[in-house]
This record gives sequence, C-alpha cells and structure tokens, in this order.
Amino acid sequence: MRVLVTGGAGFIGTNFVLRTIETRPDVEVTVLDALTYAGNADNLSSVAERITFVRGDVADAETVDRLVGENDVVVHFAAESHNDVSLRNPEPFVRTNLVGTYTILEAVRRHGRRLHHISTDEVYGDLELDDPARFTTSTPYNPSSPYSSTKAGSDLLVRAWVRSFGVDATISNCSNNYGPYQHIEKFIPRQITNVLSDIRPKLYGAGRNVRDWIHVDDHNDAVWTIIEKGRTSETYLIGADGERDNLTIVGLILELSGRPADWFDHVTDRAGHDLRYAIDSSKLREELGWRPRYTDIRAGLAQTIDWYRDNESWWRPAKAAVEARYAEAGQ
Ligand code: NAD
Ligand code: TYD
Repeated sequence: MRVLVTGGAGFIGTNFVLRTIETRPDVEVTVLDALTYAGNADNLSSVAERITFVRGDVADAETVDRLVGENDVVVHFAAESHNDVSLRNPEPFVRTNLVGTYTILEAVRRHGRRLHHISTDEVYGDLELDDPARFTTSTPYNPSSPYSSTKAGSDLLVRAWVRSFGVDATISNCSNNYGPYQHIEKFIPRQITNVLSDIRPKLYGAGRNVRDWIHVDDHNDAVWTIIEKGRTSETYLIGADGERDNLTIVGLILELSGRPADWFDHVTDRAGHDLRYAIDSSKLREELGWRPRYTDIRAGLAQTIDWYRDNESWWRPAKAAVEARYAEAGQ
C-alpha cells in the first residue's frame, strides 16, 4: 500500500509515520509537509531512507495532484492546529484547513483515491462541566474558535464531496493528544518544559476546563484501524476515556517532577475558552474492535516527561520565543 501522509512532520503525523514504518513493512510512505513553525523534518531522520519526503503546501494543487496520483491512500493530518495562534492570526487556518482540504478532495476525486481525514472533537463546541453527556457522531457541530471552525468546515467539505461526488473517504474526530514530538506551545509540553526550565506552570483562568486526553499512539492505532476496517463515508470518534481538568494535569506533572503541588501560576484565560470536551468512542470500539492501550495517564505522562527530558535539544531552541509570545498575552 502506498500512503501519502500530509503534515507528517508535525506532532501526530511524525508519530504516525514512525509507527507505520516500525509496524507495517509493506507500506510505502510519502510525506507532504510545508514545514511551518510546527513541522520539523529532523523528526523523520531515523526513517529518512524508508520514506519519500516532499516539502510542499497542501493548498498547492499541482503538487497535491501529482502526489495523490502516485499513492493509494491519503491520510490528511496537515493543519494549522493551535487555538491560541488562531485567535492572533486566523488567516493561515482558513488557507490550510479549508483551502488545503478542498485541494486534497479535488485530487482524490480526480484520481479515485481513498482519503482518511483527521479531525478534532472541537468541531462539536463544548459541554458543561457537570453535563453527563459526551460527544457522539450525531452531536451537532458548534465550533468556537477560528481553529475549530476551520476544522469543522474541512469536515463538512469532506462530507459534501462524499455525498455529491462519491469520494471514498472516512473522517475521525479525536480528543486531545499527548506524547513525544508535541510542539511546546501546547498545554502539556509547555508545562513539562516549563518545569524543566525552572518556570512555574501556567494555568489559564481557574484551571477547571476539562480535556479528554489520549496518547498519540492510541490515536494513530485507531487511524490504522479505520483505514483497514472502517466503512467508507463514515465518521468515527476517537477517545480513551481520559477526562481530566487542567489543574489535575498540572498537579500530576508537578508530582512526577518532584515539585511542590502549588508551584504554578494562574494566568489570563483564553478568549472563548471551551469548558469541556468528552468523547463517546463506542462506535469505534464496537464496530471496529479498537481499544486504547494507554489507559493510565500518570504512566503516559511520566513517559512523556522522560521524552522531553531526554530530548532537550529538540525543544530548547524554540522555548524562549514561545514563552515571550505567551508573556505578551499575559499568559
Ligand atoms: P501540528 O501543528 O503539530 O502539525 C501540523 C503539521 O502540518 C506540521 O508539520 C506543519 O508543518 C504541517 N502543515 C501546516 N500547514 C501546512 C500546509 N499548508 N501544507 C502542508 N503541511 C502543512 O498538528 P498536530 O497536533 O500533529 O495535528 C495534526 C492533525 O490532527 C490536525 O489536523 C489536527 O486538527 C488534528 N488533531 C489534533 C489533535 C491534538 O491534540 N493535537 C487532536 C485531534 C485532532
Ligand atoms: P491546548 O493544548 O492548547 O489544546 P486545546 O485548546 O486544543 O484543548 O490546551 C489544552 C487546555 O489547556 C485548554 O483548556 C487550555 C489550557 N492551557 C492552559 O491552561 N495553559 C497553557 O499554557 C496552555 C497552552 C493551555
């Protein structure tokens, strides 16, 4: 099988490519990545001989058309992915998430290829903290930010191309990922690298917002399960029953790092900050038999802290600039 992975030099895409090479020797991987601030080609250096790497934009119709034509399946991870950045500068979100997905869709339509579109649970908006409900595939779309609204739009484009043009596509909406290679602008790696830099962790507002954490390897195993067993045109929700509020996550990071439990700061809250995300993944579990392997978030966080401790050269060069940008916003 020849697989085109867009965004393969970012957090989840890198883990997907490394795991695919490790576990599926019959798969040929081509990565298409624009290497924005969030992408790092060095992530893939250990498999450089085994993959084809193309630096390019998913909104570039010519490049996309050629690469889609040369592959059997497209796994579309490429996106602008950070809510805080989308509040400062939404333009690249519209271009990459919407125009990029449109460009991929037109190419898979022309060449009759299979598409798996990677999306987020944030398309559903948020839930109240005390609401027993979780997101399902019938929850109405109600996104809050430029990031989540452009991801919602990209999902709707995929659904329209399936219905109107018969494109062979599946969609997955996953909850918040953690693990190695995540950009240090995101919550968990920001706090881990803060602690490793002797900076107190920074919690937005009261820290009561809840995210449904999943290890990136569990997400990527689910993606392969959907590619191999998923029904075309279907949407699958991916989640590992990992609901925790942000205070709890910071508490675990502090404890695992041997720091006092109150060694953190409350900072300016995010505008429009979604309260809670929670995924009901029973469709994926019951229909396709997927199960998460990382069910102990403490162990998953300990492994992630070790990775950032052992790979300081990967994140250190970006740290001061990321913190300076947050400091400007009072965060
Ligand atoms: P990331 O920001 O770490 O990586 C994105 C990658 O896409 C980078 O390598 C970047 O260079 C590349 N890219 C950006 N614009 C591009 C363009 N125009 N053309 C080609 N490449 C481009 O993001 P991530 O956290 O790995 O997320 C990957 C996907 O998973 C996204 O679609 C995101 O919406 C989705 N997702 C993420 C999470 C999460 O918790 N991180 C959860 C659910 C879904
Ligand atoms: P983030 O990793 O940006 O993911 P998302 O916005 O996609 O959920 O943030 C996760 C949660 O952590 C979210 O509630 C915002 C919060 N947060 C902080 O409290 N402090 C921080 O420094 C960051 C980056 C996020």
